[in-house]
Amino acid sequence: MTGYAERFEWYASVCHSVQQRAIELENQPDKRKGLRMFAPKEVAAILGISPGHLRNLHREPNFPPGRSAGNGRRSYSIDDLHAARAWLFDQTNSARYDPSRRENEGEKLQTIAFVNFKGGSGKTTSATHFAQYLALHGYRVLLIDLDPQASATALFGLHPDTDVAPEATFAGWTRRDDDADAASLAKRMPQTTYWPRLDLIPASLALQQVEYELVGTLLAQRRYPFYDQLRQLLAHVSERYDVVVCDCRPDVGMLTLNALIAATGLVVPMPPSMIDFASSGEFFRILAQIARDLTEVAPGALAYDFVRVLITKHKMADRNQEAIVAWQRAHFGGSALDAPMLETALVDAAGILKETLYEYEPEGNRQTYQRGLTAMNRVNASLEAELLRVWGRSATGQGLAA
Ligand SMILES: Nc1ncnc2c1ncn2[C@@H]1O[C@H](COP(=O)(O)OP(=O)(O)O)[C@@H](O)[C@H]1O
Ligand SMILES: [Mg+2]
Repeated sequence: MTGYAERFEWYASVCHSVQQRAIELENQPDKRKGLRMFAPKEVAAILGISPGHLRNLHREPNFPPGRSAGNGRRSYSIDDLHAARAWLFDQTNSARYDPSRRENEGEKLQTIAFVNFKGGSGKTTSATHFAQYLALHGYRVLLIDLDPQASATALFGLHPDTDVAPEATFAGWTRRDDDADAASLAKRMPQTTYWPRLDLIPASLALQQVEYELVGTLLAQRRYPFYDQLRQLLAHVSERYDVVVCDCRPDVGMLTLNALIAATGLVVPMPPSMIDFASSGEFFRILAQIARDLTEVAPGALAYDFVRVLITKHKMADRNQEAIVAWQRAHFGGSALDAPMLETALVDAAGILKETLYEYEPEGNRQTYQRGLTAMNRVNASLEAELLRVWGRSATGQGLAA
């Protein structure tokens, strides 16, 4: 058994030097993550107007011109897109071009947690795509990565190990001193990203310790509200956002419990496979127990406007899956979202580049891309409809473009 220590040491040093090289590469200025340009067709769909209307708008004074390439083709940055929406709002005064919530009309901040027991059920994929969809459509969004594995954080181009200080994560909030100015600390937690209107509280492995630290503090101070930390943080920043999206870890520990209590809506991503049914069943049993326990400790702590099962990774051509999805829909009834998230190789292809479908620039088959994107938009539009319903607005014409 000799030699293993040396060999593993060697592996460790290889990992370290490869990581250093990767960081150097990615830190070159042109490799830093940014957002691609959008084509006129995409911009028209996102704004909910026809491509012809968008073309005509370019004759109007002060309409954002976008950028014109030599061949006369126009493209738009995300800032152009938001400027176009603001221009349309100025001209029409129509709420569809200013979807931000209206606090004075009682539209409250909504916090949507993506939760399930199992890794790989599509939590991070659905949470990040939903957050970006909302930002594209003009909402103000805060994404909170509550998984120490930090895959949502990595999708935003941050290296959890090197770019994210422990205090930049939710741990920075739970570790605050008793005499700290909580309000100003909370206001400093969200970081801007290269997505305008989408801020992030990132994750790193440091979050893992929060699981134990919260229990430790509870043992030291019997009345410590270990379950209420995220809700308290959000109370300080709520006026800046319309929607908070929480990406949770694949188990129900202290971090997930905090998300369950801060949330006003739950989305449970569930692939249509037997194994996932079994683990999702376990997950709901644990939720039931938590709900019972909390009735004594913190009555009223769980309060949801909606709980929805989201079918993920649906393989259209698979007949067994078709049958499972049909049962899933029939048995969950109104608790299942109508639109399933289709399994598409593009989510993986984009993911390898640390991109989402909204960021990915397809090179080959645009048709496949369009199909994947349309399915993703349908999922997100049906979640957006839930938000609008809670705010008492109708979904028609509000960002429901294909
Ligand atoms: N709709 C989809 N089509 C194809 N691959 C998907 C899809 N959704 C998720 N995946 C892949 O499945 C894996 C797990 O998804 P992820 O969202 O990270 O799950 P979780 O956060 O629940 O662990 C990832 O590699 C992701 O790229
Ligand atoms: Mg995840």
